[in-house]
Amino acid sequence: MNNRIIEGFIVFEGIDGSGTTTQMNRLAERLKRLNIPVRCDSEPTGSVAGRRLRTLLKTGNAEDPLFNTTMSSLFSLDRALHVYGENGIISTATGGVKLLCDRYFWSTAAYQGVNGDVDEILELNNAFPLPEYLFFLDVDPNEAVKRIDRRNAAKEIYETAAFLEKVRTLYRAALKRYEDSGMKIFTADTSQPADETEAFIASCLDFLPKCR
Ligand code: TMP
Repeated sequence: MNNRIIEGFIVFEGIDGSGTTTQMNRLAERLKRLNIPVRCDSEPTGSVAGRRLRTLLKTGNAEDPLFNTTMSSLFSLDRALHVYGENGIISTATGGVKLLCDRYFWSTAAYQGVNGDVDEILELNNAFPLPEYLFFLDVDPNEAVKRIDRRNAAKEIYETAAFLEKVRTLYRAALKRYEDSGMKIFTADTSQPADETEAFIASCLDFLPKCR
């Protein structure tokens, strides 16, 4: 396991509908109010690989082993560009900007792990540096799917309660392996109101002033 930790790199993970994007944006707003430089990224990114992934997320067959391996490889390629590229994670976070990221390689372990080999996926992502903070946003998959339905957008291939239940289990197992990695890992129950989750996340960040 790569134990290099990038200070100021903060990752949000969780099943679809768990609120990763909402909480990342809320934290970014909070940091901006405190004049702390911040940037929000997400994976898949806008790279060529990332754009292809967005299409495949609408049309692919998650059960097909070849499709699944292709997805693991494409997500990892997209991530390599994101980590090491110009204005990528490393250059941005080491330049003093808090780099918030909606999803990182635990998403590949948990999602592509459902129809693939988690060990192989983690091996493929082994060289990537770790975030300083990792927030796992946890919610019941049935509640998550209700939230996704309320968005009224076309469903993506992984957005069923049965699939997300498996993803949730794999997330927990994958994160357990990183308990001694030196990252600060927190689980937030996002069945509670978003304000409460936001306050919890802020309370976990050592660099923020503590409010009473
Ligand atoms: P999102 O923009 O709603 O987070 O959607 C991204 C989708 O891609 C979501 O269903 C999770 C999935 N995904 C993977 O399957 N593997 C990955 O490595 C990443 C980053 C995302």
